[in-house]
This record gives sequence, C-alpha cells and structure tokens, in this order.
Amino acid sequence: MSDKDISLGFDSLCIRGGHKEESNRSHLTPIYASSTYTFNSAEQAVDVFKGKEEGYIYSRWGNPTIAEAEEKIALLEAFGLKDKSGTQLQLKAILHASGMAAMSTMLLGNVKAGQKVLTHFSLYGGTHELVEKILPQFGIEPVIIDFHDVNKVEDALKADKSIALMHIETPANPTLQCLDIEALSALGKKYGLTVTVDNTFATPYLQQPFRYDVDYVMHSTTKFLNGHGTAIGGVMLGKDIEKMSTSLTKMHRLLGGNSNAFEAFLLVNGLRTFGLRMERHCSNAAKVAEYLSKHKGVAQVNYLGLASHPDARVAMKQMKHAGAMLSFELKGGYDAGLSFINRLKMCTNAVSLGTSDTLVCHAPSTTHLGVSREQRLQFGITDGLIRMSVGIENVEDILNDLEQAITP
Ligand SMILES: Cc1ncc(COP(=O)(O)O)c(C=O)c1O
Repeated sequence: MSDKDISLGFDSLCIRGGHKEESNRSHLTPIYASSTYTFNSAEQAVDVFKGKEEGYIYSRWGNPTIAEAEEKIALLEAFGLKDKSGTQLQLKAILHASGMAAMSTMLLGNVKAGQKVLTHFSLYGGTHELVEKILPQFGIEPVIIDFHDVNKVEDALKADKSIALMHIETPANPTLQCLDIEALSALGKKYGLTVTVDNTFATPYLQQPFRYDVDYVMHSTTKFLNGHGTAIGGVMLGKDIEKMSTSLTKMHRLLGGNSNAFEAFLLVNGLRTFGLRMERHCSNAAKVAEYLSKHKGVAQVNYLGLASHPDARVAMKQMKHAGAMLSFELKGGYDAGLSFINRLKMCTNAVSLGTSDTLVCHAPSTTHLGVSREQRLQFGITDGLIRMSVGIENVEDILNDLEQAITP
C-alpha cells in the first residue's frame, strides 16, 4: 500500500489495501498473464530461489496480481485486531482457485493420518463430503456432532485424544445456524487443537474470527468478497506467518489449487466496493426479512436479525449485523417452492450467493437434491425452503417481486 504510513479505515483498505506501485505507473495492478519470471543473471536466480532477494519465480507459486488480492484480504480480516503483544495483528493470505481448494490446503496442511477432524453437522455440502468421504481415504476420520452444546463438544474432546482440528462454519448454509466462535475456540485451545473457521457467509465486514484466537480462516471468495459473480476463488489466512510461509505454502503449491491473474484481478476489482456493498446488502436483507416474517404465505423465516432465530443472541455477540443471507419456508411446501421460483420476475434463479443481484433458490430441488428427504428435514431443510442472498438492488423492487411471486 502506498499510503503505508497512515492508518486507513475499512473502506479505504478495500480500495487501496495491498496495492504496490507499478514500474510502468499503471493506475491498477495489471493482469500478469505470465506463467514464469526472468532473472538478470544466474546469481540472481539463486538469490531469488533462496529467498535472499524478493521476486517472483513461477505463477503457481505467486504473481503480482494474486499478491494484491491476498494482501487486501489479509488487511481486511485483521482490521483493528491486535496480536498478543498489543500491536496490529499481521496475517498472511494464500489465494486459491476455489473455496474448496483453500479448504483442502487448510485441512490437509494441519492434520495427518491417524488424527481426526471435529466439526458441526450443518456444513456447506462440499466441506461435508470432503470431511466425510475424502479425508478418510488419507486416514483422517471425521467426528461430526452438534456444536451448539459446548459441554457435549468438551465430552467429545475428552473421549477422543486423536482429534487434532476443530472446524467451525458460522453462519451455516442454508439454515443460518450460528455457532459461538469464542467459546468453541477457547475449548479447542484448551485441548491443544488447531481451530479453523469458514467465514464465507459473514465476511470480515461482519465477523473477524481471529478476534477469538482461532488459527486459520478461509473464504470462498466467489461470494461476497468478489461480489459480482465473475470468478470462482478461495482464500486461506493464518496468523502463524512462519507456518503459512513454509509448510502451508508448500501444501498449496504441491496440491496445485492456485488462483490465476485474471480471476485475482476480478477479485481485486470487486473488493474495491466491498464495504459499501455489504452495507446495502445488510440493510436490504433486514427489510426483506421483516416483510417475509409478516407474510401470510410464509411459515418461517430464518434470519439472524429476527429474535425468533434460535441463534440470534450468539450472532449478535460476534457479528456486526445479521448479514445478507436468509431462508424462508413457504406454507405450500415443495410445489409452492417451485411455483414461487417460476413466478419471480426480477430476482435471479441461481445457486451461489453474495452477488450484487438477489439470488434465490429452492433448496430441496437444487442444492439439496441429492440428500434424502429424511436427512434434509433433520438439517432443517424443509420442503418449501427458499434460500435468498439479498442483493443491492432498490429494496422496493425486491419486495415487489416477492409480493407477486408468493401465493398466499
Ligand atoms: C460456506 C461455504 N464454504 C465453502 C464453499 C466452497 O467454495 P467454492 O465454491 O468457491 O469452492 C461454499 C460454496 O458455496 C460455501 O458456501
């Protein structure tokens, strides 16, 4: 950042954070579409390889466009947080090709065969499958419980000394279940675990898990951080700079889930308006939730800003606002869900979340189609459940579209 001697606010960091002056004085960091980098001499190559001189070598290992995105996200995630010595917390970020690539580096880089991963039952489907089906192939078994009851979590930790990592996703997809990061992280630390958090739904605008001494945070940058649905991406962040720069960098490089300059450029561009977008996303979502909660055709609204949500208290303790995600149950069940989607005139019928336009999907017939009815009901994914990522359009237009699409 060229403004390095002054401390900047969150929105200013969104715009300026991570930017380095360019040799050609270009205003924005260009898309460095180059797989490799040259050296002035054989000796310089040796110095760069040894880390004695700073420099890029090969784009799977790093690239200036990617570096700007990494630095910007690290500054946002650490914004206003202090380390143990009372100085500004420093984080290192590693950008990946997707949220799942970041998740893979984070988990495989912190557990080994014979150890276990402890997590909550309501998780993003891809993470659930990774933990339940893929990690066991490498000798890493899952322990999946309900994280709402901290005493039960402690019982699980007492009973099984091979648990090495606790993974927390909060708020969770699509019921918006919220978990107490502070209490869970304290327990994880008591039992010597590595504690990781998926902060995709909340983003650093709403929630900063490093405040509670967790070890690693990851995001699917595909969502609110990019904000425009233009690229898939993921990021992993850690406060142990030494470990992030050595073993986790090695894991990232060798698993090969690196990002690329074009998608990093789109991410940097999207991040410039991140704070501003979040403000509008959140205020629109609060109005939509209030409207839906009074609608005759709606049986239930899952939104952390409503006192009726069982996790509202925990959410308000650790989040700045209830966020932009909600789900609601239509009274007419499965068929009402399909007909609602077909009647929409403006909102976008698509999975994913966090884009500037409002995205709506009927969870049982899309994201949870492969889950048995019995199991999805256990997860709270009822037949008429609609998930909504509230966009930044004029809120009246969103409300009008809902009004004409919901049959009372
Ligand atoms: C909470 C959460 N974590 C991780 C992911 C995976 O991210 P990606 O699709 O970028 O790999 C998603 C994707 O929807 C998600 O919602």
